Amino acid sequence: MSKPKVFVTRIIPEKGLDLIREFCEMDLWQDELPPTRDELLKRVHGVDGLLCLLTDRVDGEVMDVAGKQLKVISNHAVGFDNIDIPAATARGIPVGNTPDVLTDATADFAFALLMAVGRRIPEAERYVHAGKWKTWGPKLLLGVDIKGATLGLIGFGRIGQAMARRAAGFDMRVIYYDPKEVKLGQNLKPERVDFETLLKESDFISIHTPLTSDTRHLIDELAFSKMKSNAVLINTARGPVVDSDALYEALKAKRIFGAGLDVTEPEPIPPNSPLLRLDNVVIVPHIASASITSRDQMSLMAAQNLIAGLKGERLPNCVNPQVYR
Ligand code: DGY
Repeated sequence: MSKPKVFVTRIIPEKGLDLIREFCEMDLWQDELPPTRDELLKRVHGVDGLLCLLTDRVDGEVMDVAGKQLKVISNHAVGFDNIDIPAATARGIPVGNTPDVLTDATADFAFALLMAVGRRIPEAERYVHAGKWKTWGPKLLLGVDIKGATLGLIGFGRIGQAMARRAAGFDMRVIYYDPKEVKLGQNLKPERVDFETLLKESDFISIHTPLTSDTRHLIDELAFSKMKSNAVLINTARGPVVDSDALYEALKAKRIFGAGLDVTEPEPIPPNSPLLRLDNVVIVPHIASASITSRDQMSLMAAQNLIAGLKGERLPNCVNPQVYR
């Protein structure tokens, strides 16, 4: 019997690829850069399954060009704002994602950014490398304190809660804003507050909310105007949750102390972005989940979702379970 045909839009870790090879006839995109829109439309034609990345925009057109035999879309990410979920649901196509396996890696990284910005580590490193270190200075590169500070979490799902656990080890007070009622994990007693209170009371604000029409530019000029002047903003969620122009103005005017961005709007950030000229921002290329184990597990989970969909089984992690009703 012939194997189902799939298109995989980038070279993912071997663990996932091995599994896909076993069950599928795989067309694997080999480039470091994602397929262009035209290439994507060309390569999906006639496939039974699509394994895509957050850099691929998968909308109704992609699904229709693929054809009626398309049984599953598997995203190699926990976030799925790159996929038109209503379009997939309307066509009866289950969409998979990769939750849980990147929670700790992402929270570790968000916390690392929090400390790096708060204690000005990249700036201090640049200072040393530039040959500016002349002596020990009582006021040299002073940072903000972490112990006893208030950490405000925007979004209190898996990664937000993992941040709260890390913050407990630093004796921080944790508050969170989440429009949804959240079932708290073990040993977590943070206070739920409204958005305005979170902005006003937090020394550190860390974003852990998906990108939706409600969260796009949630952190705008007005939000920055309500933050403390010593506030540090961390974003490891999605770039467009923060209005980049408002962020630039807030950082330049020192309205806030600093920001740590794993994600930007757009991605990658253009080399001429004014944000790159500021000292009080740390920007890295969307690598919060990039630990060896976490990426191995993501590839495996994405492959498992893909294969389950091809077999007509329920995806282990499905973001639109309505397709099964
Ligand atoms: C995700 O999975 O959504 C992250 O942004 C990348 O791992």
